[in-house]
Amino acid sequence: MNPTNPKITEAANFLRERIKKEPLIGMITGTGLAQLTDTMDIDQTIPYEQIPYFPKSTVAGHAGILLSGSIAGKSIVAMQGRFHIYEGYTVREITFPVRVMASLGVKYLFISSAAGGLNPDFKPGELMLVTDHINLTGNNPLIGRNSEESGLAFIDMTSAYNKDLIALAREKAVEEGITLNQGVYVGITGPSLETPAETRFLRSIGSDAVGMSTVNEVIEAVYSGLKVLTIVVITNTNLPDCMKATSIEEVIANARKASPSLTRLLTKIIKDLEK
Ligand code: HPA
Repeated sequence: MNPTNPKITEAANFLRERIKKEPLIGMITGTGLAQLTDTMDIDQTIPYEQIPYFPKSTVAGHAGILLSGSIAGKSIVAMQGRFHIYEGYTVREITFPVRVMASLGVKYLFISSAAGGLNPDFKPGELMLVTDHINLTGNNPLIGRNSEESGLAFIDMTSAYNKDLIALAREKAVEEGITLNQGVYVGITGPSLETPAETRFLRSIGSDAVGMSTVNEVIEAVYSGLKVLTIVVITNTNLPDCMKATSIEEVIANARKASPSLTRLLTKIIKDLEK
């Protein structure tokens, strides 16, 4: 559905010349989760600054490298580090890499990120499978894209998080003995963390975890016809009645702690993925 945009074409052509095999899976790894690519057989390591029109990562915990290679024989292009509204990027810049990955032929998009747990049952270091989201970023990458050229932007979001991938993730989590919570992710802009009143509000509207990314990338991916799987790491609890100060160091440390189980889970999912 994406129109041919010269910047996307140029970035995709640059990568196509370097990547050996058309990627089946696109992956975006968030705060402290760069280890997700440890099990990958890597062909190419490409810093974002070399890719035409790619934004640059400016945040701690985000490497700013694009890797191509494979896991369990499935070809992957993986972003170590993503872009956020709170860095000053526009929503179009944040979702540019998703459009490039779609242009490269990716069919699946796997997203991981750090999130604060709003659901009192979740513990820091646990994973949450995202089954739905609430976009409170006040933004949408499809604004201004509803034209004859690009197709209708009123895309259906009732199954943005692919049901088959959700079922596969749950099955593999049980097999691997990994605790996999599930719930609704609410996306906000940050960078300030939530006040107790905001936390109460986010929980009351039906959210289980809160984070500063993911939702706009997912909208872009659905628009591009990609099958999306999102698993977030609960890096801290965010409960109004017992709220304690959260630091970026705590977020990164807990994300790193959860990284091995998330890596194991994703590897099993990828192994069983249909081509
Ligand atoms: N709030 C918002 N974003 C986050 C949090 C949080 O508590 N933890 C990790 N990302």
